[in-house]
This record gives sequence, structure tokens and C-alpha cells, in this order.
Amino acid sequence: MIYLDNAATSGTKPDTVISAVNKELLQSANPGRSSHKLALRASTKIYEVRESLSKLFNVNSPESFILTPNATYALNFAIKGILNSGDHVIITSMEHNSVLRPLYSTNHIEISMIKGNSFGFIDPFKIKEKIKHNTRLIIVNHSSNVNGIVQDIFKISKIAKSYDIPLLIDASQSAGIIDIDANNFDMIAFPGHKSLYGPQGTGGLYLNPHLKLKTLIEGGTGSNSKSFYNPSDSPDRYESGTLNTPGFAGLREGVEFVLKEGIDNIRNHEHYLLKILLENLYNMKNITLYSPLNSDLISNSVAFNINKKDSFETAQILSENFDICVRAGFHCAYPAHQTLKSDKNGSVRISV
Ligand code: ALA
Repeated sequence: MIYLDNAATSGTKPDTVISAVNKELLQSANPGRSSHKLALRASTKIYEVRESLSKLFNVNSPESFILTPNATYALNFAIKGILNSGDHVIITSMEHNSVLRPLYSTNHIEISMIKGNSFGFIDPFKIKEKIKHNTRLIIVNHSSNVNGIVQDIFKISKIAKSYDIPLLIDASQSAGIIDIDANNFDMIAFPGHKSLYGPQGTGGLYLNPHLKLKTLIEGGTGSNSKSFYNPSDSPDRYESGTLNTPGFAGLREGVEFVLKEGIDNIRNHEHYLLKILLENLYNMKNITLYSPLNSDLISNSVAFNINKKDSFETAQILSENFDICVRAGFHCAYPAHQTLKSDKNGSVRISV
């Protein structure tokens, strides 16, 4: 079998991830609650994943990583924790439903969607043009889960900073592939189970210490138990309920794997694979390519169609006849397909 659906979830996890999960399941305890030895060990595991994430994102504040079940929760926490009725938010046409749906289901929020060019690239200047007195948040998808393109988040960050507007980066397809210095950003949402090689059910939100969010979920945190309110400090403020200790112990090892391999080596290897893929697709007859030919502009996904064939049919043939796993359709990002003009049949996505 050839697994090329890594944008949905990384298909092979390092052995260290599997053993870490196993170990936590063999002897479970609740982190941050009881004070016996096993509970303290579980707390240490949770602290260690925050430390590894701090190394990965180049910050010195492990407590600024809020652990969540996936990137969707992280994006919901950020969006709903910042926005109030009457606020204006700027997004791009390459956003995923995990940004679109929380926004569109919130009442009295004004949304400006900046359309990307034919490959989905956003002109940061267009974001600047849309800023107005009540703009309270800018959200940018770092790398598209449809065609892999990478946006210039540094330029956008400079603009957001100059207007003092928080910027939320959706790093679902970039965390672990592209070096991100979190010091430059306000909020970064990321999944644990894609290019960080952790188990599904793990993810997180980096919340720059200068920001405080409204809480979305309240409950037991193991701290300030006499109070009827969640603690005010991060991460307890945002992490009610028992955490997924086996999952995060695994994620810690996934992040350590990325650090050990080296993010530049990982990216170089992805480039090598992407180049072969792009050149061959480009030279084939009857292929419509929706990703740029230059692999430097892509994280890990390439989108295409064969003639006017339905994308699901192509993916089915690849699976049944060739044992190749890809994802077809609209990838929970319909405006991205409208931008790329693949909105009729969706597209086939190969993610290395
Ligand atoms: N968002 C994931 C994908 O693009 C699941 O496949």
C-alpha cells in the first residue's frame, strides 16, 4: 500500500510515539489532580509535551500551549474566545470549515473574505485594505489542505501588528514541516496527529502570553477548587476536564522526533518527493494541476484532476486498482475550490 493521505493524518507514527502511548495506558493516572507518585508522573508527561512544543515553536513559555483534542478545537477556542457581537474579522478564501463554521455560526459577526489568486495566494495588501475600526481578528490558513500552498504569514503578521489586531494562524498543514517562530504570532492552532506524528485526539493552541481569551469550556482543572470560576492563568484557564495523557505522551515523542530529524531535513525530503510528483503530473496528458509547479511554494499537498473525471472516481480507482491512498472531493474547504476553480468536482489530493 502507498499512503499519500498525510494531510488527513500522518499514516506512520514513530515507534517512540507508540511505546509512549502504550506505557501511559499500561499504568494510567490523572495529571494535575491527585498527589500520589503516578499522578505526578502523569503531570510530568503533560508538562513535557508543553516543553517540547516550546522548543519546536522557539518560545520559553510552556504554559502558553493549550492542549486540545485537535486543531478544530484550538481554532474554536481562539475564535470564540476573542470575538464579541459587532466585531469584524478578516479571513481568506483558503480557510477550512474549522474556521468558516465557527465564524458563520456566531451571530452578529461581520466577515470579510479575501480571495486568493488562481493558486490561492493572498496579497497581504488586500488584508490591509479591509481593516476597519471594529476589526478584532485576522485569520490565515498557513498552508492549504487542498493544494498545499503556503501563505506569507510574516508579512501578514507585520500588518496585523501595526494595527494591533490579533492574528490567528491555522498551522494544520504546516506545523512540523515549516519552521514557525511563535514569538512573531498571537495564536497558532495546530493538530498533533499530522506532521507532528502524534496520535489522533491531540492538538493545541499557542496563545501568546499578552492575550487572554474568554473560556469556552469550564470545569475542573485540579487548581483553585474553591472558586466557582475557572482559574485566570494559562493553561488551566482553558483546559477543563481530564486531558488525554496517553495521547499527549505520544505527541511529545512525535515532536521530539521532528526535532531530532530536523525540520529543515524533513522539509527538504518533502521537497524532493513533491518535485518528482509535480514534474510527473505536469508532463502527463489530461491532467489539470491546481498546485504551483514550484515545490518551494507548497508544504506537502498537491491537487489535480484527470480530465473532467469526478475526483472521487479517480481516488477510488487509485485505491482499488493501485493500492494508493489519497483524498478526493472538497476537503472541508469549498471556497478554496471556488478559488482554484475546482468547485464542480472537487479535486484529488496527494499529500506526501
Ligand atoms: N483536514 C484534514 C484533511 O484535509 C482532515 O484531510
